[in-house]
Amino acid sequence: MGILIKNGEIVTASDKFVGDVYCDGDKIVAVGSGLVKQGADDVVIDASGQLVFPGGIDAHVHMELPFMGTESSDDFETGTAAGVAGGTTSIIDFVIPARGQHLLDGLAMWKEKAKKAVADYAFHMAVTWWGDRTKSEMEQCVREEGIPSFKTFMAYRGAIGVDDVELIQVMQTAKDLGALVTVHAEHGDIVVALQKKLVAEGKLEPKYHALSRPAPVEGEATNRAIMMARMIGEPIYIVHLTCREALDAVTDARRRGQLVMAETCPQYLILDDSVYDKPDFEGAAYVMSPPIRPKGHQEALWAGIASGLIQVVATDHCPFNQVGQKDMGRDNFTKIPNGAAGIENRLGLLWTYGVLGGHIDVNRFVDLFSTQPAKIFGLYPRKGAIVPGADADLVVFDPKGSSVISAKTHHHRCDRNIFEGFEVKGKVSHTIVHGRVQYKDGKLDVVRGAGRYLPRKLEAPAAARELR
Ligand code: URP
Ligand code: ZN
Ligand code: ZN
Ligand code: ZN
Repeated sequence: MGILIKNGEIVTASDKFVGDVYCDGDKIVAVGSGLVKQGADDVVIDASGQLVFPGGIDAHVHMELPFMGTESSDDFETGTAAGVAGGTTSIIDFVIPARGQHLLDGLAMWKEKAKKAVADYAFHMAVTWWGDRTKSEMEQCVREEGIPSFKTFMAYRGAIGVDDVELIQVMQTAKDLGALVTVHAEHGDIVVALQKKLVAEGKLEPKYHALSRPAPVEGEATNRAIMMARMIGEPIYIVHLTCREALDAVTDARRRGQLVMAETCPQYLILDDSVYDKPDFEGAAYVMSPPIRPKGHQEALWAGIASGLIQVVATDHCPFNQVGQKDMGRDNFTKIPNGAAGIENRLGLLWTYGVLGGHIDVNRFVDLFSTQPAKIFGLYPRKGAIVPGADADLVVFDPKGSSVISAKTHHHRCDRNIFEGFEVKGKVSHTIVHGRVQYKDGKLDVVRGAGRYLPRKLEAPAAARELR
């Protein structure tokens, strides 16, 4: 059975034209005009007046992550389904072995959990400690498991965070393997010191989370990670960059020609730190690391996107319920599990605040949402493109109309939405995954376990060379 999408405005990272897309099985087989049905039972979607995008790729999510004494509340099934409702058809989740746990043991756990995904998934491998087997296991990840990107946390000291020596070992090994290192950049020791100081002063509410990790904490770590990568001669990808200070470090690096890539997330582009002043512990919903920044940083991030310093908008989807999870830190902000939901809202927010807000054009929107993550992480052109041979993962987007984001109606398995009450323009009318309509007119029709694992090969230096 095929799907024929007729007369849509097909938008890729570089093109925009009215035409048709024909999918057969799980592949796109033709893109052009005047395409006709091939089989009697083909589904025809009239996309006139609508836009057709490649399916979104969320390069930074955490489904059912054991973290801070609990587990993120979306599992691979509910989280990928929420993604499909928001036009995201592939995710890259992070295997995060506990300190002392071997990488491949962590991977075995994640492979098992991910079996219920409704949409395609890949993994980054986090290196959370350095042991005798780490180097050979990293090699096995790259050569045999299709995982050529590694994650390190400079924050979360005493848990999953690494020290500088460990970080350098990861970078050197990744360089030898032709793999890419991604970094959560916050000065872990300073965070611990500031947390202790605030707690000792009796400053325990959610808003002190932000004050325990101010922008210089991120700026310093971003610069340090970039300098280490420079010494080693290894490209680097900074995850969830939130502030001017970190952007300055990226700017300096790029000026001297260093291969530095950066990602940000909608919450850092749209929200400011006044969210932490909400009464009745509601600020806890916004406790994530790095934190939401004061007014001013958001415009700097948009400018960073416009100038090409930032290549990817991901979500860092890592939901925790207010009731039963966030409230573990009711008496102490350091115990509030860090993270929030977002996978379903990325398209609408980036469209509304990015495109309609005048910060990016539609091609750049597709680039940030789908094509760059595919290129940087080795999924292109199977993903991130509308070309014959690519996977039939597509979004039909109706720019008319609007909706209001709410935890009452979202598909995230979470009792809060950090964008509660925000209006977004347009709507996803169809999400096609593997050549099947899995979301249509507000209704999901997904299949537990239909998601496939995406082994990857990396040409990170090639993607990095494209940096503008
Ligand atoms: O607060 C966050 N970001 N939670 C998820 C883990 C991480 O640091 O990405
Ligand atoms: Zn992080
Ligand atoms: Zn603006
Ligand atoms: Zn994360």
